[in-house]
Amino acid sequence: MLGYIKKNKMSTRLTIVLLLFTICSFAQKREELVVSADKSIAEISPSMWGIFFEDINFAADGGLYAELIKNRSFEFANPLMGWSTEGKGKLLVINDGLRNPKNARYISIEPDNATFSLTNEGFRGIGLHENGTYKLSLRGKLVSDTQPKIVVQLLDTTNKIISERELTGLKPEWDTYSIVFKSSKTIQKAKFRLVFSGTGLVNLDMISLFPTDTWKGRPNGLRKDLVQKLADLKPGFVRFPGGCIVEGRDLANRYQWKETVGNPFDRKVMINRWNTEFDYRPAPDYFQTFGLGFYEYFQLAEDIGAKALPILNCGMACQFNTAELVANTELDPYIQDAVDLIEFANGDTTTKWGNLRAKMGHPKPFNLDRLGVGNEQWGPQYIEKYKLFEAVLKAKYPNVKLIGAAGPFAGGELFNFAWDKFKLTNVDFIDEHYYMAPDWFLKNAGRYDNYDRKGPRIFAGEFAAHDKEGKAPESRNTWFSALTEAAFMTGLERNADLVQMSSYAPLLAHVEAWQWRPDLIWFDNLSSVATPNYWVQKMYSNFKGTNVVSILKAGKTIIGKDSLYANAVEDKVKKQLIVKLVNTSAVSKEYDLVISGAKGISKKAVTYTLQSDVLSTMNSLQNPDNVIPKTSSIDVKNGKANVKMPKFSFIVIVVSKK
Ligand code: AHR
Repeated sequence: MLGYIKKNKMSTRLTIVLLLFTICSFAQKREELVVSADKSIAEISPSMWGIFFEDINFAADGGLYAELIKNRSFEFANPLMGWSTEGKGKLLVINDGLRNPKNARYISIEPDNATFSLTNEGFRGIGLHENGTYKLSLRGKLVSDTQPKIVVQLLDTTNKIISERELTGLKPEWDTYSIVFKSSKTIQKAKFRLVFSGTGLVNLDMISLFPTDTWKGRPNGLRKDLVQKLADLKPGFVRFPGGCIVEGRDLANRYQWKETVGNPFDRKVMINRWNTEFDYRPAPDYFQTFGLGFYEYFQLAEDIGAKALPILNCGMACQFNTAELVANTELDPYIQDAVDLIEFANGDTTTKWGNLRAKMGHPKPFNLDRLGVGNEQWGPQYIEKYKLFEAVLKAKYPNVKLIGAAGPFAGGELFNFAWDKFKLTNVDFIDEHYYMAPDWFLKNAGRYDNYDRKGPRIFAGEFAAHDKEGKAPESRNTWFSALTEAAFMTGLERNADLVQMSSYAPLLAHVEAWQWRPDLIWFDNLSSVATPNYWVQKMYSNFKGTNVVSILKAGKTIIGKDSLYANAVEDKVKKQLIVKLVNTSAVSKEYDLVISGAKGISKKAVTYTLQSDVLSTMNSLQNPDNVIPKTSSIDVKNGKANVKMPKFSFIVIVVSKK
């Protein structure tokens, strides 16, 4: 019996030893991700992660530009678009180019002893916040001896009056009048109405309504919630004004920055090219007032600590549309626009354009140091035109970096042609665009690892993973799309010596007035929502670091083997080591993060995790928090941390060090 017990004890011990051995060997099996914190591979440009703004999807008028009245100056193709009339009275649309050739139309109203009203529907409604104050301003002129009674009203969706005031004292010369309203309610789709009664004749123009609570409280300014979301990204640059909008469908409708500065009354309204671009997403009421113009773009960039990055038309209209080209012998005005823009941004206030900037409220220069020549252009004519721009701009402003475009595609004939030709120029950056399937982003995480380092730097100027949903032509902002972008961006970051600017595109979209999907931020008339893609951009931008350091698994760069993507950076200023890990697989993973070459590292690392078990998850205005970063911490012992990665996750690990 004793013998049996002894034997049994022996076998129990053996089992425990075996078990321990198994546990140890499992522990040993955990793969290591080795960060060499003392080996800086590349410096990261402070302007690496930026934003791409284009007036698409009602991003400017009806979006960032906080104007609430649609067609305020009656300059849309249909002069009364957005306005409806009721009651008896005479309304004429007068075109008087002598008064203002840029803003020729105004309306003339005579109620004829009856009640006559004019209602504006806003941009898919007018958003009003409870207790918010709203300032009406308009240009008016009394034509008759006596003024008709004019009552201005804010109406709710059922046409109930929320607030009303009387407009009195119109003078016989054109002048500006204003009234401040307070809204007693929050309404998504309010209306604005002018009610005329009695007798008399008045002329009206520039009927405008703005919230007083704009970004930085600027009169006639920008929508606060939207700018805040942009500011939160801490972008390194703001690219503006697009996109294809720069090119126009034809040259007459190209973007001309000089038409967008000075008094908004003198900025000529133009059709927005996205008005007619997609048959399945018509937007007949999409026009550009340029209330958000080049001065405001420079100011926005400055406000949020970003470099301004304007892109200018290079004498070519959209090659997918008319492909109209200006003859090279006629290119001078286009080049002059670029020269003058640099003067507008940086010139002394004694110069013509520097003086205009000062008059608009910014005597100090905006310190423009980069400029794009053309958007998605291609072919020999583009290269010819670029060279003509370059010859003038490099001679006059050698410190302004120039950006050329690689065309609309991520590779192929047009792309290769552009690259071959640009290598023979002094271009500083090539703007590459990739609107591709999520899978492409995974396969291309190493895209820049072997790029030629002797040529121009890369501006990843427009990209988004297009995750299709059913047969719809447009894609969605799913977690899958964002996750694959996060994986791809490890490669942009790893190659920060080469890739020095990057921006997701497009930036903004109105939920009821979009033409293009996916987009980084969605909004309605009252609020906005950050997509999973936004959070990915924010993680990169907010934790960008100053230097890339090495992170290897089994001695190799981590670009997709076992569905893992990784990169590591050091922030020499904040004294942090930052590791970005992306697990694209449907199973959770566990690694040992081993940090070598860093002194005084903290015992805890902060982690920010973006994750969803379901790849099709999206954020919406109703459910904005489906995919948002969750903050936690992990222990770091002797430079080692155990990292658990849930399936489909993107984790940013921040370790403090001396
Ligand atoms: O971002 C939307 C459009 O995509 C841009 O206007 C254009 O540059 C690209 O084709």
